[in-house]
Amino acid sequence: MARTPTIGGNWKMNLDFDEAMELASGLRNRLGSHRGAESIIFPSFPYLRPVSQRLRDSAIAVGAQDLHTEASGAFTSGVTGTMIRSVGCTHVLIGHSERRTVFGDDDALVAKKLSVALTAGLIPVLCIGETLSEKEANQTFSVLARQLDTALRAHTPEALSTLICAYEPVWAIGTGLTATPEQAQEVHAWVRSHVRGLLGPTFAEQLRIQYGGSVKPANAAGLMSQPDIDGALVGGASLKAESFAEIVRAAR
Ligand code: PGA
Repeated sequence: MARTPTIGGNWKMNLDFDEAMELASGLRNRLGSHRGAESIIFPSFPYLRPVSQRLRDSAIAVGAQDLHTEASGAFTSGVTGTMIRSVGCTHVLIGHSERRTVFGDDDALVAKKLSVALTAGLIPVLCIGETLSEKEANQTFSVLARQLDTALRAHTPEALSTLICAYEPVWAIGTGLTATPEQAQEVHAWVRSHVRGLLGPTFAEQLRIQYGGSVKPANAAGLMSQPDIDGALVGGASLKAESFAEIVRAAR
């Protein structure tokens, strides 16, 4: 079956307010009515509301980079899924490798964040991926299995129907090293077959799996032409409207 490609732009902790608004406008001009692939951008929390407003009625969706697991209360600096929804967002990143490695989000916390995102009615983009040392120790598939099992096993296929998965080898993020299209395809096919075992063939066939890690205009088409690669999660190259737009246009 045909899966609509989905391209995420993870702005991470970059851009001042004026730059963020300029980027949003540049994306609106280039992709505001683009229908071939889905685009979602993930600005920093303070910009979610104004960026959502600037992109209102466009083809570009807006999401948050993280959320807190509690619904309210004394959790200084926490941001809930309901808050994120209330400022015009539809999506949220869950378990990005920088959350896992820099902030210490473990598999159990990632699983809880996925649950609260679903409860809040947000579309989760669940990020998984192995580090360089795990890859070198031939642990890629066992790490991915653990990350997928912990996050997904509590849920039915119906509850997860909006899920997007992002495979991001940690050694390829921000390093300029990309998996080759063939290497990435091998892992994506493995992820889909593992998900088939967890949630069934219909779910696995429909699941969109983005590739992430140094995706740029020059390598996007090659990666996304692979049968199990359904888009990209883009960091650095999403900070320029033209390069992000080129990656979205490269998705067929
Ligand atoms: P990168 O980041 O494109 O800068 O490697 C990807 C990501 O972290 O999602």
